[in-house]
Amino acid sequence: MLPSILLLFPLLVAATSGFHVLERRDSAPAGFTRIGSPQEDQVLSLRLALTQGNITGLHDTVYAISTPGNSRYGNYLTREEVTEFVAPSSETLSSVNSWLASNNLTASPITTARDWLLVNMTVSQANALLVADFSTFQSDATNETVIRTLSYSVPAILKSSIEWVHPTISFPQAKSSRPPSSLKRPTTAASAQPPASSVSADCRMNSSWTPVCLQELYGIPSTPAKPTTDLFGVSGFDNDFANLRDLQTFLEIYRPDMNPNTTFGLITLDGGLNNQLPGGAGLTGNPDTQYAVGLTNGVPVTFISTGTLPDDLLVEMLDQANYLVSLENPPRTILNTETPQLESLLSSPQIAISMCNAYAQLAARGVSYIVQTNIWGAGSVPIPDCKSFDASFPATCPFVTAVGATEFNNDEPEEVASQFSGGGFSDLFKRPKYQDSAVSGYLKATDNTDSSAFNVSGRAIPDVAAIAAISWIFDGGVVDFLEATEYSATIFASIVALLNNERIAAGKPGLGFLNPLIYSNGDAFNDMKTGSNPGCNTPGFNSTVGWDPVTGFGSPSYPRLQDVCSKL
Ligand SMILES: *[C@@H]1O[C@H](CO)[C@@H](O)[C@H](O)[C@H]1NC(C)=O
Ligand SMILES: *[C@@H]1O[C@H](CO)[C@@H](O)[C@H](O)[C@H]1NC(C)=O
Ligand SMILES: *[C@@H]1O[C@H](CO)[C@@H](O)[C@H](O)[C@H]1NC(C)=O
Ligand SMILES: *[C@@H]1O[C@H](CO)[C@@H](O)[C@H](O)[C@H]1NC(C)=O
Ligand SMILES: *[C@@H]1O[C@H](CO)[C@@H](O)[C@H](O)[C@H]1NC(C)=O
Ligand SMILES: *[C@@H]1O[C@H](CO)[C@@H](O)[C@H](O)[C@H]1NC(C)=O
Ligand SMILES: *[C@@H]1O[C@H](CO)[C@@H](O)[C@H](O)[C@H]1NC(C)=O
Ligand SMILES: *[C@@H]1O[C@H](CO)[C@@H](O)[C@H](O)[C@H]1NC(C)=O
Repeated sequence: MLPSILLLFPLLVAATSGFHVLERRDSAPAGFTRIGSPQEDQVLSLRLALTQGNITGLHDTVYAISTPGNSRYGNYLTREEVTEFVAPSSETLSSVNSWLASNNLTASPITTARDWLLVNMTVSQANALLVADFSTFQSDATNETVIRTLSYSVPAILKSSIEWVHPTISFPQAKSSRPPSSLKRPTTAASAQPPASSVSADCRMNSSWTPVCLQELYGIPSTPAKPTTDLFGVSGFDNDFANLRDLQTFLEIYRPDMNPNTTFGLITLDGGLNNQLPGGAGLTGNPDTQYAVGLTNGVPVTFISTGTLPDDLLVEMLDQANYLVSLENPPRTILNTETPQLESLLSSPQIAISMCNAYAQLAARGVSYIVQTNIWGAGSVPIPDCKSFDASFPATCPFVTAVGATEFNNDEPEEVASQFSGGGFSDLFKRPKYQDSAVSGYLKATDNTDSSAFNVSGRAIPDVAAIAAISWIFDGGVVDFLEATEYSATIFASIVALLNNERIAAGKPGLGFLNPLIYSNGDAFNDMKTGSNPGCNTPGFNSTVGWDPVTGFGSPSYPRLQDVCSKL
């Protein structure tokens, strides 16, 4: 546990008599410098997260409707039913609104449930209202400035009504760059004789997994999916775009059996775009849409582009989740491969808790939400003096499905764990019941309970894994080989989209939140029994028989999953 985390938790200390400090931090995070005070009359748009009425009831409901065998399995909630769980109590709403009114301020709700309010006020009003010191901070890396405060309070009588306020102590996080250059196509000795394997030498020797090879490896059908209106949503954030022409080239090269004009739809929010100018394509949206379309052959894919109106990537993700919850028919499968954030680097745990509760709402709506772990193994490359393992968010949220990485070395007969596969234990979220037996079984079998390096009671990741090395098209040219857990999540989500599509086409409910199903059907996955994910100057975790914090239950077998789904 890094000491800095402790400082980020709200301290139960009053700043001024009658006020309650909601959140504080000692200093700006590394990479930001305070350069002065903003104009007193500059207007800030502050978001207030109000205490949701019955979040525990929502969580319990999600587990009930997502657990096969439960009498309520598949009875997903309407948006109105979700709203009933998360709407703040009338006392909460009236006390917050009268506090604002007594300060001549009015709030407008951001969500139908009114659990999020937006209030515009000047810097001087905000400083007085929240006992804050809003200042201008500059990013050393980009020179961009943001207005933040290191501490803020609300009247003590409102401390159980307001959970947090944004933007305050949470600083934007830089998007990490691409995987390091060490993730290059392994060189194959010309004379290498591949060992016997169920997978063709063409695919194994190539190390880059094209759609045709993934079909072979996981038994993914190549035939067109039955037409339904259910969408497969692929997320893009921060001006990361998906290019239509690159998709066409991709299909021409890698799916010659498909119509190269197959395309994707577009949903935008927060000023999101899908810029098609040369050089406008993104390093996430582009490969993700190419594989989503190329692996699902006929499932309607839609690109969900969230813009940069909130000056924080995590708030963009929160907006995306709140937006999708509010749709009458949200896409049933959603892929989000945006760069994960290490839990210890989150500016405020509140933002992760709010986001995870938004993912719980999507789970309640029957959405399968799929994310990657990270490419830093059990540790965390970005923290040089790392002393403990650091799991990454949003993978650690118990209501999403987290995908780790595997690889296929040409000198081995089977798929194995990738040493880059992010895995480990959360410090923020408790271990959910659905994984209790799998995770405690792992801990017991490996006798690995070194709680100084990781939190044995935390939510463990990943849940599953898939191949991480693919080729795709960028700006018209082939990106020959890249390996990242992002691609593992894309491949897994494509399989889920196909399975969801089959269920919908058969008039059945979709699979919804997947984890209870996954943890009760571990044998529908190809178990990785060897390999490890070194990190934080340690050997990391070992991959073992059954679930492990390197590859979860392993990689998907389409035929076995299809069989499981047909019996639900
Ligand atoms: C919260 O939701 C649960 C599950 O639906 C329900 O049993 C409980 O009565 C609710 N609690 C309140 C205070 O509404
Ligand atoms: C609110 O507005 C009224 C009328 O303009 C003014 O008298 C009062 O001082 C204001 N109160 C605050 C807290 O700004
Ligand atoms: C707050 O300001 C934003 C940006 O100027 C504006 O779009 C919004 O309508 C305002 N909201 C309220 C409640 O005044
Ligand atoms: C930031 O500003 C400094 C000083 O003006 C300049 O030297 C530097 O190039 C700028 N960095 C970026 C990323 O714009
Ligand atoms: C091997 O990789 C290359 C480059 O990505 C690709 O063009 C080729 O189709 C791949 N071969 C197979 C069998 O997938
Ligand atoms: C793809 O679109 C182009 C241009 O509209 C058209 O000429 C071509 O026939 C289409 N191809 C297929 C296979 O539908
Ligand atoms: C371990 O996880 C639990 C539950 O998530 C949490 O309450 C506790 O603070 C964590 N411990 C440490 C040392 O982070
Ligand atoms: C991982 O496996 C290696 C080799 O089998 C063994 O030496 C090591 O103790 C194992 N590590 C853990 C944490 O179980």
